[in-house]
Amino acid sequence: MKTLMGGLVVTALFSVACAPQPQQENIVKDDFDFAARQLKFALTQVDSVNAAQKDVQGKKKLVSPRTIADDGSFKMVASRDWTSGFFPGELWYMYEYTGDDFWQSEARKFTANIEDQKTNGGTHDMGFKMYCSFGNGYRLTGDSVYRDILLQSAATLITRYKPTIGCIRSWDHSRDKWQCPVIIDNMMNLELLYWAFRESGDSTYYNIATTHARTTMKNHFRPDYSSYHVVDYDTISGEVLHKHTHQGYSHESSWARGQAWGLYGYTMCYRETKLPEFLTQAEHIANYIFTHPSMPEDLITYWDFDVPDKTNEPRDVSAAAVMACAMYELSMYNPEKSAQYKGWADTIVASLSKYYRAPLNGAYGFLLLHSTGAHNFERDVPLVYADYYFLEALLKKQKLESEGTALL
Ligand code: GLY
Repeated sequence: MKTLMGGLVVTALFSVACAPQPQQENIVKDDFDFAARQLKFALTQVDSVNAAQKDVQGKKKLVSPRTIADDGSFKMVASRDWTSGFFPGELWYMYEYTGDDFWQSEARKFTANIEDQKTNGGTHDMGFKMYCSFGNGYRLTGDSVYRDILLQSAATLITRYKPTIGCIRSWDHSRDKWQCPVIIDNMMNLELLYWAFRESGDSTYYNIATTHARTTMKNHFRPDYSSYHVVDYDTISGEVLHKHTHQGYSHESSWARGQAWGLYGYTMCYRETKLPEFLTQAEHIANYIFTHPSMPEDLITYWDFDVPDKTNEPRDVSAAAVMACAMYELSMYNPEKSAQYKGWADTIVASLSKYYRAPLNGAYGFLLLHSTGAHNFERDVPLVYADYYFLEALLKKQKLESEGTALL
């Protein structure tokens, strides 16, 4: 009852804060119109790659766009790549916005291409791959085949859970450096497990996700609520061995996308569990990010908050897009801060729309420029996950303004 009343109060306050804002609605429409044209162009680029790989089948087949390579070529990836679910996910978001069966049909094709990943137990990236593709597909169509694939994916993911540590192992590579590396990004894969709990009623999924989130809260965060990228655990004692970075500027720096994964991750964990500790954590992370002295005025973060001289350093549009998604949702959970939180998300969306969009029929059909994968690769390029979270942010913004909820 308490929760229900709380929900009603939040919704009531929110509807006042979110009276229709026509100008904002135009941003969403304008961006989706752009995305429709640009993604149709992307499909022609994929067709060209497919024509050149007619005889390639199985694991080597390139199925999904990722970025533009250093030599200027269009880079697509095979299904095992951690980014393979984002392009299908974008197509599902296009279907969600337009209701046009063209997008559903394309989304189904690209989604089917990565089904083999449901049994790939060699990666923690199951949520990124399967929840963004099959998860959105199931949400929008209720297709029971997608449900089965998602349940199998969740069952595969929890084979990586280490009870002594209380975490799902992230990477299997770099065994000379780390025994059991867990990365902050892994918070995003928990959404698939919470979904599996809701669908199957099996509390194992809930317990693993919640324990992972709590262990990460304890060991990944510094007193200022910034987070380390990689925490390495002793597989026998479960003790922390190292706190490192892999993609950031330094071990003690705050890699921007890692901060974004944490923000989105704890916001989602609060949605799924209603445990106040996760809401508090998400709000602390939001405060760290948006009051950081190095955050530019347009709220499109540099790729690392602590890189010393930022004069020639690139932004990370992908981190900004993830932050916007999280802040639209977080704005629902704290009536006193909702306007500020939504305002930050709106600023990001406005900046992305105005200054970071790719040229129409250019950049191989990617939507946004100026993302950064890591200190040593994919610097200042389009990245497919920036585009995916951009479309998600637009959908959340629209729903929040029209229905008072950012939940898709
Ligand atoms: N999960 C990998 C990345 O954020 O780059």
